[in-house]
Amino acid sequence: MKVCVIGTGYVGLVSGVCFAEIGNTVFCVDKDKDKIELLKAGKVPIYEEGLAELIKKNIKNGNLVFHTDTSSGIKESDIIFICVGTPPLPSGKPNLSAIDEVAKLIGQSINGYKIILNKSTVPIGTAKRIKKIIKENQNDGNKNYDFDIVSNPEFLKEGEAVKDAFFPERIVIGSESKKAIEIMKKLYEPIINQDFGYAVNNTNKRDKVPILLTDSTSAELIKYASNAFLATKISFVNEIANICERVGANILDVTYGMGLDSRIGSRFMKAGIGWGGSCFPKDVRALSYTTEEYGSPASILNAVIQVNNYQIFKVVQKAMDMLGIIDDKIIGVLGLSFKPNTNDTREAPSVIIINKFLELGAEVRVYDPIVKEYPENMDKGAIMSASPYRAVKGANLMVLVTEWSEFYDLDFKKVKSLMANCNILDGRNILDRQKLQKMGFKYAGIGY
Ligand code: UDX
Repeated sequence: MKVCVIGTGYVGLVSGVCFAEIGNTVFCVDKDKDKIELLKAGKVPIYEEGLAELIKKNIKNGNLVFHTDTSSGIKESDIIFICVGTPPLPSGKPNLSAIDEVAKLIGQSINGYKIILNKSTVPIGTAKRIKKIIKENQNDGNKNYDFDIVSNPEFLKEGEAVKDAFFPERIVIGSESKKAIEIMKKLYEPIINQDFGYAVNNTNKRDKVPILLTDSTSAELIKYASNAFLATKISFVNEIANICERVGANILDVTYGMGLDSRIGSRFMKAGIGWGGSCFPKDVRALSYTTEEYGSPASILNAVIQVNNYQIFKVVQKAMDMLGIIDDKIIGVLGLSFKPNTNDTREAPSVIIINKFLELGAEVRVYDPIVKEYPENMDKGAIMSASPYRAVKGANLMVLVTEWSEFYDLDFKKVKSLMANCNILDGRNILDRQKLQKMGFKYAGIGY
């Protein structure tokens, strides 16, 4: 099929490449000229395993075309994917101006039956809003052309996005149109049946993927509710971690014991510095906003946010416990991205923690294996270091904020010889506490 993907962010790029790889012709369009030029040259602005290779391969075989002319992309395609951003406004309400702009353009450009597919995470009711805007913008020349709206939320995780696109755990299709649902089933057929050639890390998983057919509003809510539930799991575990510290229990044993109950499960149960990223903070706030807007209490959702804010602050408090006064101390921070295997620092707890250390008068040295530029909101007073060892040289405290694999096997003899004081605050509970304590480090984790 001919597919136009509007917006080349995480969701757009990964979905576009995936549908190109399974044999469709995909036009990836973005109004950002510089970005499109980079992509045409096979250069990928985000770090995602396997993505650059797939982009190059599909540009070469003609399945993937990048350009800036959204209108012609719409005209040439049967299915239009809307993958533009919905960043939060200060109230928590998502900003839909990019979606509205695209819907307007679709209305002006439509030249035959099309499926308009929404992959962006959008507030409840957006499918209806898009339909209205498209209709309003159809003109005398094209007002007779029919179209259907489909809500097809994306569940990919950053750092594993390519794998998630090819091997999803479910496909959710929300539409009021039987015709559109049949076309969507056809588009997704290779993914549903798992009968395409692509493999990631020798993944042999070839079970059929469940497809859920529902109305567009339910599809929109499935996405928000899933992210909010996952964030709830983490906030819950973080709250239990804080109780553990008070009563002398061990969060690692507690979560392991809880997870053995299959109704609870062992995944997404890691206590730490709190959740961040481009999705959870935005989506939990948006769902809370919508819940209250429709006159329902958002008690759990608001508590989930509150616990997370406290958790980030708790890391600073722990640093104070270890250092006494922070002023004039040197703190080496390991990790900047909101989680490993991505260069994304949007709403990363690391940034809030680093800014707070600087505000309290510390000298902060930061090392991240991939992030080499200052995140937008990070105080430029922090010093970017070229290696984890440079970051901890002369430091009074090392704070591990992102569980990058290279931090698991640091040379701690070297770390010890470099640090002014052997204090380690492990914000992800990944280091071997006993070994470090034996070596003479003062170690603090989260909840044990
Ligand atoms: C999330 C959802 O998982 C994905 O389905 C959705 O499409 C987008 O949002 P992502 O933002 O990439 O994906 O990150 P995820 O791996 O879910 O982690 C989110 C945050 O939770 C990170 O800050 C991570 O460090 C934190 N986390 C995760 C924990 O603190 N503990 C855990 O056990 C798991």
